[in-house]
Amino acid sequence: MNDERLAKIRHAAGELRSLSGGVEPRALVVLGSGLGGVVDAMDVASEVPFAMLPGYADSTVIGHAGRFVFGTLSGTPVLAMMGRIHLYEGHSADKVVLPVRAAHLLGCSVMIATNAAGGIAPRLRVGQTMMITDHINLMGANPLTGANIDELGVRFPPMADAYSPRMAAIARELADEASIEMEEGVYAGVPGPNYETPAEIRYLHAIGADAVGMSTVPEVIAARHCGMEVAGFSLIANVAGEMTDSHEHVLAAVEAGAPVLASLVAGILARL
Ligand code: HPA
Repeated sequence: MNDERLAKIRHAAGELRSLSGGVEPRALVVLGSGLGGVVDAMDVASEVPFAMLPGYADSTVIGHAGRFVFGTLSGTPVLAMMGRIHLYEGHSADKVVLPVRAAHLLGCSVMIATNAAGGIAPRLRVGQTMMITDHINLMGANPLTGANIDELGVRFPPMADAYSPRMAAIARELADEASIEMEEGVYAGVPGPNYETPAEIRYLHAIGADAVGMSTVPEVIAARHCGMEVAGFSLIANVAGEMTDSHEHVLAAVEAGAPVLASLVAGILARL
């Protein structure tokens, strides 16, 4: 069973390698909804639709236009993901993190994960970037469930240092230099897909969450399990619990704040 899971990851990594355009990535950059602009600054060698990765997105999300992009950003060979699959689409946590584990096998020692999130802490304003300093896993799922894949990491990996202090220091330095108002805080990962009730927002606030979203936590757990260094950023797309309207509203807010986040990602890669 475990050998089977490992074989799947190795197979996926092999497929990605064969489609990489010769890029040997050192960093995985996961770009959430509306945050694909980071790729504009990349020297692109190859683009691979999610559907081409065996065991990942299959046909149900082809319309979602997710893809892998191999190239160079700030002089660093990177594997970028434009979009991701989510638990709320019905995928297992194991499947959600397949690209993270494949990236590890391809030689990525670093992951920068981004997402759009709802702001809970009153200090957070729509359009701002929040550097994730810690997370709370409320997703009801964990990519490490099941027999441990010893080749990737230990059975009980610590999460005390899930988000790299080294990368956080670089991000802070960059934000200060460029006078970017970068906030910091705790990200709560929830299953979704509905947005939160007012009572749920009060609960999340009470347990120490500053922002809430439906992604990132599985990827971070899988990345830390296999020893990758992680940084995470949330673009605050709405005030959580005060959703007046739709997904389109969220995407518009993300679009407005995306350039700042893109410059942070590029800047971090340049200084690693
Ligand atoms: N809640 C959960 N996930 C989200 C939100 C939110 O308010 N905004 C963007 N992703």
